[in-house]
Amino acid sequence: MRLKTRLIHGGIEGDPLTGAVSVPIYQVSTYKQEAIGKHKGYEYSRTGNPTRHALETYIAELEGGARGFAFASGMAALSSVLSLFNKGDHIIVGDDVYGGTYRVVARVFTRLGLEADFVDTGDLAAVERAIRPNTKAIIIESPTNPLLKVTDIAAIAQIARNKGVLLAVDNTFMTPYWQNPLDLGADIVYHSATKYLGGHSDVVAGLVVTKMNELGDELHFVQNAVGGILGPQDSWLLLRGMKTLGVRMEEHEANARAIADWLAERSDISRVLYPGLKSHPGHELNKKQARGFGAMISFDVGSASRAEEVLTKVKYFTLAESLGAVESLIGLPARMTHASIPPERRAELGITDGLIRISVGIEDVEDLIEDLAQALK
Ligand SMILES: Cc1ncc(COP(=O)(O)O)c(C=O)c1O
Repeated sequence: MRLKTRLIHGGIEGDPLTGAVSVPIYQVSTYKQEAIGKHKGYEYSRTGNPTRHALETYIAELEGGARGFAFASGMAALSSVLSLFNKGDHIIVGDDVYGGTYRVVARVFTRLGLEADFVDTGDLAAVERAIRPNTKAIIIESPTNPLLKVTDIAAIAQIARNKGVLLAVDNTFMTPYWQNPLDLGADIVYHSATKYLGGHSDVVAGLVVTKMNELGDELHFVQNAVGGILGPQDSWLLLRGMKTLGVRMEEHEANARAIADWLAERSDISRVLYPGLKSHPGHELNKKQARGFGAMISFDVGSASRAEEVLTKVKYFTLAESLGAVESLIGLPARMTHASIPPERRAELGITDGLIRISVGIEDVEDLIEDLAQALK
């Protein structure tokens, strides 16, 4: 089955009981047992729910892994992955990741005894140098957020495998439509499904897929023990949103390419970060490891005051946290998504006060360009 067909017919289709074409919403917490321990596969909805199970099967198939898991948010998904490790274990995390990822590692899990280093995962030697005897995992994003740096997933996977370390990849920006980290050697792939997978700014969710069954068993233990599961209504919303992932991602990307080209021509913008631009240092690598470039663009308008002006003048770009929705969104990482990173660290990384991040939606691209043009005037 090819990708676009798998998006429609993958996972569990409809309802065998009634013939309903869409998976029903099993709004239920518990299940009748014929005798103690004798049931139809479901006991209690924290442990398993048929609507959630359909979503979990679907994402596992799309990412090419053994097991899928749905959580109440991307952060709940990542926190469950981090809960696989023990006090005294060490992890390596990319230095240009979503601010909430930095926050949960630096301010929650390190408090519980996990050790962490934040490393530029574009520098393979630096990743190798950071590995210690107690290192258990490497966590990366590619492209990164908000600087859109491309990391060589297969090369990091090789380093991880040689050292017996797990590799987890946040695939939120690319989605399984463009990139499959498990095929490149990762052990775990996870998503803020709130973004492109949901696609309509109406659901907060997280998904994880493990390459192997054994790791899936460990993660199911955590999911059931900690309980940060996705409810049946939201599971259904995601199932519905994901059916159109292919057509949406094609439109998002076509618009993003046009906007990036247009921004790159302007003399009043100092940096345009988009892996789809030939001038982007990660362009060729991204082409090698993914089928597309996504639709996230960051660009620097020079100062915080100009950035603020642009953000207030745009009409079609909604000033909002988040990304990956059908409507175009705009934000200022330094003040919004990445505000939890200390200012000195942001400066070191290049997340300047004038750096605007846009998530290009699927509106008519001419309207989007006209909107940016009037806001930049
Ligand atoms: C790349 C990335 N990973 C993870 C998250 C966290 O996901 P959620 O907001 O669904 O908890 C986000 C949220 O913006 C994100 O952008």
